[in-house]
Amino acid sequence: MFYSIFFKSSIGKKIIMASTGVFLMIFLLLHLSINLSLFYGEKTFNEAVFFMRNNIFIHIMEYILAIGFITHIFLGINIFLKNKNIRGDVEYSLNKSTPITSFSSRTMIISGILILCFLILHLINFSIPMKYSSNKISDYKIVISLFKNPYYTFIYVFSFIMLGIHLNHGFQSSFYSLGIANKKNFIWIKKFGCFYFWFISIGFSIIAIWFFFN
Ligand code: HEM
Repeated sequence: MFYSIFFKSSIGKKIIMASTGVFLMIFLLLHLSINLSLFYGEKTFNEAVFFMRNNIFIHIMEYILAIGFITHIFLGINIFLKNKNIRGDVEYSLNKSTPITSFSSRTMIISGILILCFLILHLINFSIPMKYSSNKISDYKIVISLFKNPYYTFIYVFSFIMLGIHLNHGFQSSFYSLGIANKKNFIWIKKFGCFYFWFISIGFSIIAIWFFFN
């Protein structure tokens, strides 16, 4: 009873959206640290992947991550559609040009859907071959061969720019939704959010660009 009221209320939805968002942002830091090991060569990267694949804690986290992603996506679309219906199409389109809302906040659904498309591509190209390939190709070689493909590298970098735009608003917004942000600490949350999204976007992109050229 309590749970169904919580999930249906807009406050409940905001809290779930923010918690899954924060969880995904922590996951991105972990993911980037594994990807950075590509710079240390084939052996180090393959060992890092082997460790992740054979760790029970990571396995459990994978399921939680999948639930977090699915919840975030469904709820994001649900909130967008509800807001659109409430405002009505005409008012919604007028609202698009309101100067007080940033470009990032107005395009959360678009950046979100583009990230989702990239996620599907990423699962097909990386995760599934790395996990289920029967012929023992090195994980490092799978990754590097994809980064040698100009189309893939372009889509990859573009997607991380989209993620940066999503996080530019998402980072600070999640602190508001969770009731952590206030007038005093807002400027620091904004600065930290800015640092975080640049770090993530540039971090992932630079790896792809480096291996494309080298
Ligand atoms: C790694 C990927 C992602 C991360 C780290 C992330 C992070 C976040 C964060 C932190 C927020 C702010 C939550 C709040 O306002 O309290 C947010 C909002 C949002 N996200 Fe994501 N997100 C990701 C992927 C996606 C995807 C794939 C979608 C697909 C639809 C999506 C759709 C949305 C939408 C529509 C909002 C705004 C919700 C609202 O208006 O309150 N996100 N995201």
